[in-house]
This record gives sequence, structure tokens and C-alpha cells, in this order.
Amino acid sequence: MIKLHDLYFKPFISAEQIDAAVTRMVDEIATDLGDEVPVFVGIMNGSFMFVSDFVKKYPKPCEVTFIKLASYAGLKSTEDIQRLIGLTQDLTGRTVVILEDIIDSGNTLAEVHRIFKNENVKSLTIATLFHKPEAYKKDFKLHYVGINIPNKFIVGYGLDYEGLGRDLPEVYQLKTTQHMTNIVLFGPPGAGKGTQANFLKEKYSLVHISTGDVFRYNIKNETALGMLAKSYMDKGQLVPDKVTIDMLNNEVEKNADANGFIFDGFPRTNAQAEALDKLMDSKDSQINAMVALEVEDDILVDRLLERGKTSGRSDDADKSIIRNRIKEYYDKTAILKDYYTKQDKYFGVDGVGDISEITNRLSTVIDAL
Ligand code: IMP
Ligand code: MG
Repeated sequence: MIKLHDLYFKPFISAEQIDAAVTRMVDEIATDLGDEVPVFVGIMNGSFMFVSDFVKKYPKPCEVTFIKLASYAGLKSTEDIQRLIGLTQDLTGRTVVILEDIIDSGNTLAEVHRIFKNENVKSLTIATLFHKPEAYKKDFKLHYVGINIPNKFIVGYGLDYEGLGRDLPEVYQLKTTQHMTNIVLFGPPGAGKGTQANFLKEKYSLVHISTGDVFRYNIKNETALGMLAKSYMDKGQLVPDKVTIDMLNNEVEKNADANGFIFDGFPRTNAQAEALDKLMDSKDSQINAMVALEVEDDILVDRLLERGKTSGRSDDADKSIIRNRIKEYYDKTAILKDYYTKQDKYFGVDGVGDISEITNRLSTVIDAL
């Protein structure tokens, strides 16, 4: 990942892939033009690297010139195209091939067509290394396209973000979800996880994804995934991780504008932790921390017994059942503690004291992420 000014970009198209696309375009154009001596017109600034690599590969005599147009302000294409340097030579009767780095809305291309309208060239063909079909709003034919890309902002190989990135030999794509705070929240039964999750959710505008709730929601609403999960549960089998991850993916996608997520009840195994990493990666994001509330067993037992008096939960009323649940928790989460410690993402927080005191401790950890 790289940072230009205030934004993060991730590797998107390698130098090798670019080279292959340029080579293919050269082959196609050279074949189509035969023995014509073309004038390649690069559109500055963005196309300088493409034009350079292109003409070095071009197998026959050709001419090269540039015009300089500007349309982009920051991350957005504008209607208002500035003609900074126009044509400086007479191209009457010539075979002209426009070499563009990228065609996005097509506004720049419209200006190119305006420029050539009265030039009486023999032919005008358009070649662009990158093209964003979803953003293209014009009808001009694009004769040669190197690589079609999604409608996301890219930098590198001539393309810039506010001046930076043109020098990069490969192309990077803007990370769309930034600064997300994603926490895996852990705590033994009785540690106060629910209370603290509610508080964190408010304070940091996070979405709390409790796997138990997600399951109940999907099964109750008979979603396809819910039915699938139920079919395993009815047979007394474990729901495959893939099903759970797909449900979590839906929750993450439903909340694309959230500041981040608190995962609760997932992951429980190494494989699940890896699957969650993959899921977050596919969203240009990552798990930032595993935060575990740490409370001594004896205190947990006391708290749960106390809760059992009013909650009516039978599993909160029996000392040995409680001890077992706590033991099970540590058996299961030890592996995950290792998993996240290896990535420097494990944060144990003392879960004994006033509720607000504990929230302060949690906030200190999260603020430092
Ligand atoms: P259009 O006028 O919207 O087709 O945009 C064409 C010009 O905008 C290109 O020549 C680039 O200079 C710039 N541009 C379009 N998309 C991108 C991008 O993703 N990154 C950087 N510059 C871009
Ligand atoms: Mg350009």
C-alpha cells in the first residue's frame, strides 16, 4: 500500500501487465496501419509514460507529438477542459493516432475531437491504455483499448493524484474504505462484553456484529443463508465457516458507510480468523485489533451467579457450569490470542472495576490504533 497526500492506494496493475497491454496495442495498431507513417499524438501530462513505451516498441517509422489538456481536479473529472498546449504542426492528410493514458468520462476526448475537427487529417483513431467503461458518457469510438478498469481512481504510470504518483512504474487503485476501526471483541462470560460493545458502538460510530444475532436474524427471516445454516443445524452439524462468513459479508456490505465494526462471537478458530482477514481485505480494510476483556475466574463466577438470581438463565445459576463455560472460553480463545498477538493486534484490557473505568481503558486502546 502507498500513501499520496492524504489518501491510500493499493497495488492494482503490475508493470508486467501494463507492458503486455502496451505490446498488444502496438501489435494491433502496427498491423492495422501497415505502411502508413502515423503521427502519434499523446495527451499530456498523463500519457507521457505510455507514449514513451509505446513508440519504443513501435516496429516501423512514426512521428510523435503532444497536446496538453487538463480536466481533472483532484479525484474528479470536470467538464471544463483547459487547452494548455494545442497542435503545433500541420497534420493535413496525416494518419493520426491519439494515445491517451486513460479515458474516463470522455470529456477530454470530446475536446480532442473538437481540436481535430478542422485539421483535415486522413484518419483519426483513438487508442487508450486504460478505460473506465462505467464512467464513459460519450459516443466516440475507442478503436484500441489496453485494459478496461472499474470506475475507481487510479495512479501511477503517468497518472497522478494532485501531482503525485506519475513516476510509479505500476498502477495503484484508491482504497475506498479508509480509516476503518475494526475490532474483534473478546471476553469470557460475565466480563461485560455486551455492555462495553454498546458503549464503543456509540462512541466510535461502529456497527456491532454479533454472530449470534446475525444467525438468529437470517434464520428468522428465512434468508437463503439462514435456511442453509438451519439445514446443518437441524442435522446437528456445525454450520460451515463459508456460510457464516457469507452472512458477515452481507452485514459488512449493508453498512458500507460505517466507521468500522465490532465483531463479537467470531472468529473462534484460526481458519475463521483467516477467513475474516480475507473478508476485510476484499473490502480494502483490515481487523485492527483483538480487544479482550480480562477478568479473574472467581470474579466472573460471582458476577454470573449474581446475574443468575435475576436473569433466569439456568446456565448462570450453577457454579460448575459457569466454571466450564469460562474454561471453554479460554481453551478456544487461546489460539486466537496467539493469532492476533503474532500480528501485534492483541490488546488485553483489565475488565475489573467500574463500568466507566473499563470503558476508559478500552477507549485508550482504540484511540491509539
Ligand atoms: P476524462 O476527460 O474524464 O475522460 O478523463 C481523462 C483525463 O482525466 C485523463 O487523461 C487523466 O488525466 C484524468 N483521469 C481520469 N481518470 C483518472 C484516474 O483514475 N486517475 C488519474 N487521472 C485520471
Ligand atoms: Mg490524460
